[in-house]
Amino acid sequence: MAETLTRRRFLGKTGFIACGATVVVAGGLAGRAWEQGSLGNIYGGPAFEPWRAWRSGRHRGSLAVVAAAILASNPHNSQPWLYRVGERRVELFADPARNLGTIDPFRREMHLGLGCAVENMALAARGLGYRPHVALRPHPAHGALIARVDLTESAPEASVHFRAIPERHTNRAAYERGRLLPRVVLSAFGAQVASPDTRLILLDAASAEGTLFAEATVHATRQFVADAEMSRDSHRWFRHALDEVNRYRDGVTTLAAGLPESTLRLALMMPRRLIGDPGQAWLAATRDRHCRTAPMFGLIAVRNPADVTQLFEAGRLWQRVHLEAVGQGVAMQPLNQLMEIADRERALGRSPEAARHLARMVGDDRFRTVFGFRCGYAVRPAPPSPRRGVNAVLIA
Ligand SMILES: Cc1cc2nc3c(=O)[nH]c(=O)nc-3n(C[C@H](O)[C@H](O)[C@H](O)COP(=O)(O)O)c2cc1C
Repeated sequence: MAETLTRRRFLGKTGFIACGATVVVAGGLAGRAWEQGSLGNIYGGPAFEPWRAWRSGRHRGSLAVVAAAILASNPHNSQPWLYRVGERRVELFADPARNLGTIDPFRREMHLGLGCAVENMALAARGLGYRPHVALRPHPAHGALIARVDLTESAPEASVHFRAIPERHTNRAAYERGRLLPRVVLSAFGAQVASPDTRLILLDAASAEGTLFAEATVHATRQFVADAEMSRDSHRWFRHALDEVNRYRDGVTTLAAGLPESTLRLALMMPRRLIGDPGQAWLAATRDRHCRTAPMFGLIAVRNPADVTQLFEAGRLWQRVHLEAVGQGVAMQPLNQLMEIADRERALGRSPEAARHLARMVGDDRFRTVFGFRCGYAVRPAPPSPRRGVNAVLIA
């Protein structure tokens, strides 16, 4: 049966941009849906194989540690990592080619994402029966070598965070604004801070600081979208069609946009040129969904953002907080537009407006914000995002 939707209504529902034409969803699109796999199991393709591989315990020893590392949170799903494995050792290298360009001029996000991978490596090692010895930047002169993890056999320690590794997904759906996080959950997040150089700041969305975070984030998103270079560098990592997702196995996807399943399947049937400008869709989603529905925002701050080991620690902290959230049934989504615009202002020598907002929210001039997020109870669970497999990230 043919169903007719005005394109404005459809795009409004999905968060894609609105314009006036009419779209007929009929046989042609259904054919395309089969081609794209959107009527079948969307998550059955090779891009999602690393999640299945981890669950099934396909890899052993050092390779299993890598199999966990690649499931970590990372900026724009750029997966900026490479690994070298030995019998009882894994070395993590930055892959500088997978940088975000003008979005991340000081590689703050890249280093945070590498810190997330380190946390998964340490957790996985313990869960798999090794005592990990983690050395961050063991040879400072070798800038690309981020961490060396030496493994000594020990009793397996399947912690709550270890078990949460394959369940942790960024949730971009609406959250229940009126449902506040209990104090015990907030304390559990606070307990993840492990370094005196790192702080976690939680902001009630209704507070002055929470309101500032939301307003400044929407403003920063508008600035980002209006910035041709940042938009270009962001679109480079945007994947829409399923065949693209399964070919590249990286990037930010329509699948992970937080849409209801029926809307998502419709969106996947549409060619990229019909879904409109992803920048405008992102701005609308940030304003109307991400910021408006969140009951709480969070910041991670460090004493010295120029010290990459502090950024690794901040990344490890984010990964722990997100894994802790899985066990607590709490959804999370990083929101870093404000930090990205602060970096952009600095790179271009502009007045540090975004940095001033961030300083007000932290309220402690010994610390600088390097990461932001929202948290709450989501209206639907988040799906996995694509990953390149272990073999694609190994170096000799
Ligand atoms: C440093 C860093 C910055 C991020 N910034 C954002 C962001 O601003 N908005 C967002 O939706 N996700 C952000 N993310 C989440 C990533 O996009 C996400 O981790 C990646 O796409 C992989 O998906 P997964 O977390 O579901 O495995 C960020 C993650 C990291 C580590």
